[in-house]
Amino acid sequence: MSASGSIVILTGAGVSAESGIATFRGPGGLWEGQRVEDVCTPEALARDPALVHRFYDLRRAALDTVAPNAAHEALARLDAAWPGELLIVTQNVDDLHERAGARRLLHMHGELRSALCAACGTRRPWRDPLPPATRCPTCGAAALRPDIVFFGEMPYAMERIEAALARADLFVSIGTSGAVYPAAGFVRGAAASGAATLELNLERSSGSAWFDETRLGPAGALVPAWVDSLLAA
Ligand code: OAD
Repeated sequence: MSASGSIVILTGAGVSAESGIATFRGPGGLWEGQRVEDVCTPEALARDPALVHRFYDLRRAALDTVAPNAAHEALARLDAAWPGELLIVTQNVDDLHERAGARRLLHMHGELRSALCAACGTRRPWRDPLPPATRCPTCGAAALRPDIVFFGEMPYAMERIEAALARADLFVSIGTSGAVYPAAGFVRGAAASGAATLELNLERSSGSAWFDETRLGPAGALVPAWVDSLLAA
């Protein structure tokens, strides 16, 4: 890997697990006792906005109680030091990558600390509880909702992500089960464009077979070791 090489890093819930944020599909996962369809679809929002808003209010408030871990910090270090192109694409809606200092970062599934106007599409930073029918300061519609990409909605920045994948020399997936598309398909897109592919995950995922190499272990140990070796080389 030359120092001018282009790197795309995909992260999922596993990168924040050691910060104390539950993953979605593991034991004790966030969705246990709460069906995904009840909180994470446009239909759920239309049917029971109070439930959906409260769910994300709790997740947003919980961000005050967690901090970035060694994996977020190592990725921020790589972002600052890597002279070539680099893009961290996170499926996570927490803000731990940016709190660790990452700059070349995209939140493809939205952000807890953001509100989206369902009427005019404006996104704005949001730190407080967000009751249903809150008015949008931009267009005045009573239509602010959590800025979360629900099942069935298009993730953010797909054109930019696909362009980065097409240019990538190395694609690294960290802490994701490979269960949710389109992110689960990135490894194949990158490999088809000639990138080397590496997976860092606690256990084998549904996508492991697609990677050139899989390293198993906690992100808090694997990611700093990988970043150190890349920067040393
Ligand atoms: P999942 O909960 O599906 O998968 C988390 C992965 O992280 C699993 O493969 C775990 O083995 C692994 N893992 C757990 N702890 C780890 C650790 N300490 N170090 C490394 N790996 C660890 O979460 P995602 O793949 O991120 O979408 O889920 C994808 C999407 O599904 C989410 O973005 C969310 C959800 O529906 C939206 O909110 C739109």
